[in-house]
Amino acid sequence: MSLQKWTRSEDHLPKNLRGLRLPLIGSPLFIISVPDLVIAQCKAGIVGSFPALNARESEGEPPLLDAWLQQITEALDRHNQDNPDRPAAPFAVNQIVHRSNSRLERDLEICAKWKVPIWITSLGARVDVNEAAHSCGGVVLHDVINNTFAQKAISKGADGLVAVAAGAGGHAGAQSPFALIREIRSWFDGPLALSGAIASGEALLAARALGADFGYAGSPFIATHEANAQEKYKQMIVDSSAEDIVYSSLFTGVWGNYLKSSIVQAGMDPNNLPSADPTSMNFAQGSSKPKAWKEIWGSGQGIGDVNAVTSVEELVDRIDREYRAAGHRLAAEFPI
Ligand SMILES: Cc1cc2nc3c(=O)[nH]c(=O)nc-3n(C[C@H](O)[C@H](O)[C@H](O)COP(=O)(O)O)c2cc1C
Repeated sequence: MSLQKWTRSEDHLPKNLRGLRLPLIGSPLFIISVPDLVIAQCKAGIVGSFPALNARESEGEPPLLDAWLQQITEALDRHNQDNPDRPAAPFAVNQIVHRSNSRLERDLEICAKWKVPIWITSLGARVDVNEAAHSCGGVVLHDVINNTFAQKAISKGADGLVAVAAGAGGHAGAQSPFALIREIRSWFDGPLALSGAIASGEALLAARALGADFGYAGSPFIATHEANAQEKYKQMIVDSSAEDIVYSSLFTGVWGNYLKSSIVQAGMDPNNLPSADPTSMNFAQGSSKPKAWKEIWGSGQGIGDVNAVTSVEELVDRIDREYRAAGHRLAAEFPI
């Protein structure tokens, strides 16, 4: 594994977001992101994350989120003691800030207790959620699909943004990353990640060239040994490419990208899907329709770059190699 550090200026970033091996965040994936995946991402030197709602206990049992945070914290502490020259990256927890998420208050308390370093918020921008994160030294990145939502999130106290552009897996935006990042960067100089079809070092470098501090990648991590996904799903990611992705609002009420073959597998015609009503969104059970994620499989458009199911470490090594090679190649065009 290359231990070369990322050497650009990080002065404008909060300390929780500095010193990564590669400017990459492994994005939160419903059902799929579990402690094994998060720990492997952090050990590989990129931010690992999971949605708090993935930690779901049976009724009457103690909160699984508490146990997961203990497991992740202890594993990363152990890694750091054993590898002082190669410390793990910090991890993030994703909170779905939607009125139907009935466990939000409880989950915020548990995350504050474990001093979660990075909080990723989705769907609603709320002052009290940001305050809960700040109370324990956490940094909040709020995900947005346009510049209006970006301004609103920062005005409510988020520290940074995840710009979810066209081509992202799961609930995706419709705007080109070129437009979205440039509009946000015209007024915002804080932490900014770009989400959508980043599955290679070349794409990551392009995100940095646009003005993003980090790439935010989800779908490539589905095809890893550590991901909590069926083998058939992992293989479908490997076998598919951009033209196998369908953009639809049918499955959760929000527009998102899904694997065409999984829609066919579920007995539907991907070329004739009706639209859905956004008021049908419900996260009380973690998602408006759990079937949407269990049977209709989400994926972004970047998976043409995913050619095998590998370990997280192998995937991060590949992106790292490509990122540096692409950077050197371009730098040669700009001799000093
Ligand atoms: C299967 C799947 C599940 C997702 N679940 C969540 C989630 O629970 N919370 C969230 O904020 N984003 C979720 N996302 C969106 C990702 O965090 C991220 O924006 C996206 O994966 C990035 O695009 P990419 O898949 O092209 O890399 C999901 C994406 C996928 C593919």
